[in-house]
Amino acid sequence: MKEKVVLAYSGGLDTSLAVKKLSEEGFEPIALIVDLGQPPGEIDEAVEKADKIGAAKTYRLDAKEEFTKNFIFPSLKANAKYEQAYPLSTAIGRPLISKLMVRVAKQEGADWVAHGCTAKGNDQVRFETSLKALAPELGIIATARKWKISRTEGLAYALECGIPLSIKKENPYSIDENLWGRSIECGVLENPAIKPPSDVYKWTKAVKDTPDEPKEISIYFEEGIPKSIDGKEMHPVELIATLNKLAGDYGIGRIDHLENRLVGIKSREVYECPAAEVLIKAHKDLEELVLTRELLHFKPLVEQKFSELSYYGLWFDPLMQAINAFVDSTQRWVTGTVIMELYKGQAKVIGRESKNSLYAAEMATYEEGDLFDHSAASGFLKIWSLPLEIFARIHGNDENKEEVVCQVLR
Ligand code: ARG
Repeated sequence: MKEKVVLAYSGGLDTSLAVKKLSEEGFEPIALIVDLGQPPGEIDEAVEKADKIGAAKTYRLDAKEEFTKNFIFPSLKANAKYEQAYPLSTAIGRPLISKLMVRVAKQEGADWVAHGCTAKGNDQVRFETSLKALAPELGIIATARKWKISRTEGLAYALECGIPLSIKKENPYSIDENLWGRSIECGVLENPAIKPPSDVYKWTKAVKDTPDEPKEISIYFEEGIPKSIDGKEMHPVELIATLNKLAGDYGIGRIDHLENRLVGIKSREVYECPAAEVLIKAHKDLEELVLTRELLHFKPLVEQKFSELSYYGLWFDPLMQAINAFVDSTQRWVTGTVIMELYKGQAKVIGRESKNSLYAAEMATYEEGDLFDHSAASGFLKIWSLPLEIFARIHGNDENKEEVVCQVLR
């Protein structure tokens, strides 16, 4: 009897070759197509293709809601961006796909799972670490590493064995898309000195093509999670899709990132993440209104760790659970509304309010009604400057060792 293998299938060239290769090598390939919000047409095409090239079975799983609730929202609560730039859209999709690979493998009684990622990328890492964490008993086949087929050979091979190709010569990019963003790499982008050609973008408009009038929107968050736009409550998936379209039309969310991959190389990556850009900015701003100074100064350390763990494929490390527990404990106050202005490639926060606001107008004001105790400042300063005063009495200070005579002007 043939051994079953569950393959994470995208419909692209590499995973299509993987189906062929796996069956040639005597396996029974089961294609798993996970819908994380990529264009529906592409998923239909992938399903059709999987059948055509000989997948024994094809699964199509809609994971948009789980992706949003359990992967996007934790990232948003952690304001997660790898190297302060990349909202991790591809990175956080991989552990979920892995989880579903395991689920299907169990259901099918398969002993093997497979992915088609290259040996130079981060995605192989994310699949394999996640698979090991979730089901160490499963064997993993990395088809692209195992059969080392170059792109040209692959294309020739695909033609030979009748794999339908949607990759046109003029689209030489490697693209990964889901609700949280679109990643584009390869082709001319490999030269980091060159401006990305306009054809790499699909979700975002060039600034010159965006409306001449700014648009104001309000986003309401409840405990760190976006619930409505302009007072209209939305399903999480719909909310993100809506913002992708809206902000994308204003040219927001284009990211050109010279990135440090886990495997040690730098690579030039272009992303389109309109909703992520808007939501992370709004969320961060709301936190500034409701969290204490100490929490605000500490949380970025945790956010950076969250981002690295996600990027490095360590989503299922127990540290991640601990970090999420910390982040969640900070989010109980992050309820309120942020007003943003979308204009010419920028999303700017122009206002915010919350029932949990720590902004004390009567303390902050320089106008009438000021309740700040001005007389307390002198005592505070006596103590605050005490260590400096003591040090200076004992050691003096280099700053005024030099004798400089000041000239009297008048
Ligand atoms: N560099 C990004 C990351 O590691 C994007 C990867 C995109 N993957 C792809 N198959 N095009 O998360």
